[in-house]
Amino acid sequence: MKTYAIAAIPGDGIGKEVVSAGVEVLQALAEVDQGFKLEFDHFDWGSDRYKASGSFMPADGVDQLKRYDAILFGAVGAPDVPDNLSLWGLRLAICQPMDQYANVRPTRILPGIRSPLAGVKAGDLDWVIVRENTEGEYSGQGGRTHRGLPEEVATETSIFTRAGVTRIMRFAFRLAQSRPRKLLTVVTKSNAQRNGMVLWDEIARAVAAEFPDVTTDKMLVDAMTVRMTLNPKSLDTIVATNLHADILSDLAAALAGSIGIAPTANLNPERTFPSMFEPIHGSAFDIAGMGIANPVGTFWSAAMLLEHLGEGSAAARLMQAIERVTADPACHTPDLGGKATTRSVTEAAIAAIRVAYSH
Ligand code: IPM
Ligand code: MG
Repeated sequence: MKTYAIAAIPGDGIGKEVVSAGVEVLQALAEVDQGFKLEFDHFDWGSDRYKASGSFMPADGVDQLKRYDAILFGAVGAPDVPDNLSLWGLRLAICQPMDQYANVRPTRILPGIRSPLAGVKAGDLDWVIVRENTEGEYSGQGGRTHRGLPEEVATETSIFTRAGVTRIMRFAFRLAQSRPRKLLTVVTKSNAQRNGMVLWDEIARAVAAEFPDVTTDKMLVDAMTVRMTLNPKSLDTIVATNLHADILSDLAAALAGSIGIAPTANLNPERTFPSMFEPIHGSAFDIAGMGIANPVGTFWSAAMLLEHLGEGSAAARLMQAIERVTADPACHTPDLGGKATTRSVTEAAIAAIRVAYSH
């Protein structure tokens, strides 16, 4: 039987609660499935470690992760640690060296969940956002001089490489091609950002020629927020830069009903390195330790993890279980207006997994 080694990095805040729920659900699933085994190792990396030792993860952290088949990540960020330090000290410190360049964010309205958009129901909003995940506005290039003086200067340079844009574009086209509507919207801001974004447009056109069966259209990022809100049905697969897609994916999660549900995959499509799966919601210190964090975003991320490992039927069953859980208002945590707890939702998910395997 296949055994997959999974690195669990709960990180900060509610990351700890949702990852432990996610591990429990994955273990229960593997037990019922009986087609594969999962072995978890837990890493205490994050802001607590930083406060105690000065670093979020050990110097050889990335090397330690290389032997795993996948990584399940919670969240990073603490109220008493500058968030640029925590982001660069852990999440980006993993994504960049592991070349997890394709950040995939599916968004749809799950059963039982209501969109804040009037009249928009399940099926009207079914998107996948592909976010470039290793360069662009998050390249980390730039600096500050004359610190603190009135003439202080800070630069934040976006990097767009032909290689980087081409590979994310091909990835997005392939993903769009695999979905029934075969529709890809390329988001840029090439009217104002006349270098990097014009390169995106050019590469999008060139790659489109390789995928004649995929329909593409082009949106400027500002107009895209309007289209997502007023005409969600007109969109399917979306590709955008690191920062643009960061912003659009928060909007997408909110329009689909709750940021507590939205999942992410940080993929290294070539599988040279392990890929990393995480809920989109962040560490949410306002509710940390209260046992009310919504674990559904982590469960959905876990389904993406299984899919990536090649366990498509287990992933599909986990998705069925998730939808059974969200359909039941008694399983809604406070972010969805309910009274459920992380524990009760986890138990319901495990029960739903058994149902999903019973037919
Ligand atoms: C996300 C998050 C992160 C990001 C934060 C935590 C820095 O918002 O995964 O979308 O901007 O990438
Ligand atoms: Mg974000």
